[in-house]
Amino acid sequence: MRPVEPAQLLQAARAAQANAHAPYSRYRVGAALATPDGRVFAGCNVENAAYPSGTCAEAGAIAAMVAAGAREIADILVLGDGPQRITPCGNCRQRIREFASAATRVHAAGAQGVRQTFTLDELLPFSFGPGHLA
Ligand code: THU
Repeated sequence: MRPVEPAQLLQAARAAQANAHAPYSRYRVGAALATPDGRVFAGCNVENAAYPSGTCAEAGAIAAMVAAGAREIADILVLGDGPQRITPCGNCRQRIREFASAATRVHAAGAQGVRQTFTLDELLPFSFGPGHLA
């Protein structure tokens, strides 16, 4: 069994999504990740009047994880606005990659719940990562 089930991540992502700051796109996003030892961190998108300064939900969840001293993502769930499932943007795939292992799962969710689960390698094949700089 996984230390954290996707249903628990969905709940955490929903709570974060409710606090999204998305007055420009009006597209609220929540993300929640689990570390291998079962800790859960969540984030939401935080837009900015200077548009490029906005940040994605995944970035918030990852920042919370790193600030707490954790460095590995076992599962990450991204929840978009509306019924359609969201997959992480290109930048966020790379952000996840920094803390991903071979087994990292990315759950794509819409309002009804998890719609599809990928491995990060499926979303970002032939990726560049920390090992290249070792
Ligand atoms: N967004 C995320 O938070 N994560 C993604 O992976 C895709 C896009 C946000 C950024 C922006 O606030 C809004 O969704 C519309 O692009």
